[in-house]
Amino acid sequence: MHDFPLLLGIDIGTTGAKVVLVDGRDANALAHRTVEYPLHMPRPNWCEQDPHDWWRATVQAVREVMQAERVDAGRIAGLGLSGQMHGLVALDAAGEVIRPAILWNDQRTAAQCEEITRLVGLERLIQLTGNTALTGFTAPKVLWMREHEAEAHQRIASILLPKDYVRYRLSGERFTDVADASGTLLLDVSRREWSGEMLETLEIPRSWLATVTECGVASTRLSAEAAGELGLLEGTPIAAGAGDQAAQAVGSGIIEEGTVCVTIGTSGVAFAPIGAYRPEPRGRLHAFCHAVPGAWHLMGVMLSAGGSLRWLRDLLGDEFNEYSCYLGRDPYDILCEEAGRIAPGADGLIFLPYLSGERTPHNDPKARGVFFGLSLRHRRPHLARAVLEGITFGLRDCLDLLRATGAPPREIRISGGGARSAVWRQMLADVFGQEVTTCQSPHGAAMGAALLAGVGAGLWPDIRLAAGLVRTSPHVTTPGPAADEYPALRDRFRALYPALRGEFARLS
Ligand code: XUL
Repeated sequence: MHDFPLLLGIDIGTTGAKVVLVDGRDANALAHRTVEYPLHMPRPNWCEQDPHDWWRATVQAVREVMQAERVDAGRIAGLGLSGQMHGLVALDAAGEVIRPAILWNDQRTAAQCEEITRLVGLERLIQLTGNTALTGFTAPKVLWMREHEAEAHQRIASILLPKDYVRYRLSGERFTDVADASGTLLLDVSRREWSGEMLETLEIPRSWLATVTECGVASTRLSAEAAGELGLLEGTPIAAGAGDQAAQAVGSGIIEEGTVCVTIGTSGVAFAPIGAYRPEPRGRLHAFCHAVPGAWHLMGVMLSAGGSLRWLRDLLGDEFNEYSCYLGRDPYDILCEEAGRIAPGADGLIFLPYLSGERTPHNDPKARGVFFGLSLRHRRPHLARAVLEGITFGLRDCLDLLRATGAPPREIRISGGGARSAVWRQMLADVFGQEVTTCQSPHGAAMGAALLAGVGAGLWPDIRLAAGLVRTSPHVTTPGPAADEYPALRDRFRALYPALRGEFARLS
């Protein structure tokens, strides 16, 4: 009776693997499951994860979704992958993981970034890769291994991005997609293929790299072994998928120039599709391939957006979490509601959300988080308000850089955990000075991966059509009276980083 095709979208996030089961006719999410894994910080501003944790979480999440919905494996028409970008997974000749993966928000490679810029030249680097050398990107991590872990570096036979390691476990094959590969600093972003020039200059063997394809291509199939583990059928097609930000944009229906997607996950992202390769001349924004063939995107990235709120929640400790439990409420909802009871400006308290350094707009791995203006009057709700405002001001900085590159966005869609709170949505509209809409599907990148799976499996002819199935929420949030107060408050926020830059450097 119910024999329509289904799709599985898998997102290898920073906090967990999310799997969403999607109706292959209308892209409706039917079920979802997230299985968390730990983040390791062996030194300040180093961030690592064990790739085996990603695999275990993926297997568990897929099995749980399938069992919860009692889905017959034969109905899964395709799988799609998405995940945290830029991470380095180094494998030896036997395909074994050599060391923990070094993640997108790890800041250890400042010296290697300088070296790359010196070797390639800043202008050429931006022209070729669409970006400056940033500490979180993959290539500087390979150079770091060469310098600091020579023995491990010598054992490298291949390097993969996080979701592509999961694909390797699913299929036994090494493939990636143009959107995720854009974040390695090794892709010729305008030609959408690996750059021989970058590989030669950085002395990275081409044989280490996965085959790169467009995102909606069913590049691999589920192996018998993985099918057994997941409870799926051998041979199920696996779409190339996309890095989490391009997948998020597809899952939010952000395909056309003039639309912008603002995503608040661990990172905070403002993402603008562009119809032709047009890197920001000074490389202050990332220019990457979009998941849609023949399209690119510009993007500003904050390293600790939702991550700053999570830090505050953790800092508040067991007592606050027990209080939330007692109320039967999510601690994030409580923090956002409490923030909503405080007037804009948090009674003179300003938060700089640079807990892991910052990419856009400062590109400064040495920047640090700051509470500025603390007084005896301030309580938890003030801290929560200041954190939300600091993140939102940071997103506005990204948006301003996007606005400066061309036509102002006619539509801003917000997604990620931050879009759930009415207080935060209002603050976003007020600080952006523009209305914001939300997406009906809260499954962002995992939904995008499922849509790409549908294209790969031939359910939909192309990505534009698939993304067109995404519905926005009828709830539009328009700027309110607080919008008039924010320009002055933002000026105070923006004055702090330049005043502290030298001190951050000394601190590090
Ligand atoms: C994008 C970026 C982050 C990660 C983690 O450039 O670094 O968004 O992909 O989500």
